[in-house]
Amino acid sequence: MPAPSRLRLGVNIDHVATVRNARGGHLPDPLRAARLAEAAGADGITAHLREDRRHIVDDDIEGLMRELKVPLNFEMAATVEMIDIALRHRPHAACIVPEKREERTTEGGLDAAGQHNHLKPMVARLRDAGIRVSLFIEADPRQLEAAVALGAPVVELHTGRYCELDGEPQRAELARLQKAAALCARLGLECHAGHGLSYGDVGPVAAIPEVRELNIGHFLIGEAIFVGIETAIREMRRIMDAARVPGTAA
Ligand code: PXP
Repeated sequence: MPAPSRLRLGVNIDHVATVRNARGGHLPDPLRAARLAEAAGADGITAHLREDRRHIVDDDIEGLMRELKVPLNFEMAATVEMIDIALRHRPHAACIVPEKREERTTEGGLDAAGQHNHLKPMVARLRDAGIRVSLFIEADPRQLEAAVALGAPVVELHTGRYCELDGEPQRAELARLQKAAALCARLGLECHAGHGLSYGDVGPVAAIPEVRELNIGHFLIGEAIFVGIETAIREMRRIMDAARVPGTAA
């Protein structure tokens, strides 16, 4: 098997905005967090502009597009409003996620198979604008094949369930992620993964050779309260890199 390529780390800064919005006003500033994340070696910044603007708001996206040196991964629901915003800003990447108002975070993956007709023109418009489209889906062969049919070049596998489990059920979920990542390679899809990852569970996912990028937010922002965002990101990077060396995976 070829040596796995370097794994990119996208840092999701949504929850800096969550803390800011708890009080209104401007602090803490998500843009400052993004700059520090860049300085600490993040390969990209991820931000989810939700329909209800509960964390990231439109001005944050403006600021990130204006100031970031690393690519922005714009997480968005498949709505006309969000497509218009993405086309206005033209971020490096757009990750289409399912969105329900009542959920606390993104629960479950996008039903790319069931929503083919709704998603097809949206994926096409983003792609035509030069935006790298990814679909946030469960590690399910049916969804991977649907991503191919939609013309999405990238999928992000939802690791939420893996992170919530322990022991044998967690190993079974990891095997499902590994199989899905291998299928991505056969289907010509670039494979990313994310949701819920922490120092304790990132290693085995980072070790999957077909996974090219991880997007991690809530844990890093929480850890940053105690050790600072740069230290938290560097430690995550260290664990990811160590897991990536062949023969050292947990
Ligand atoms: N990837 C996607 C598509 C997401 O929606 C999220 C959460 O916004 C993440 C990754 C990051 O998840 P977490 O904040 O739990 O690390």
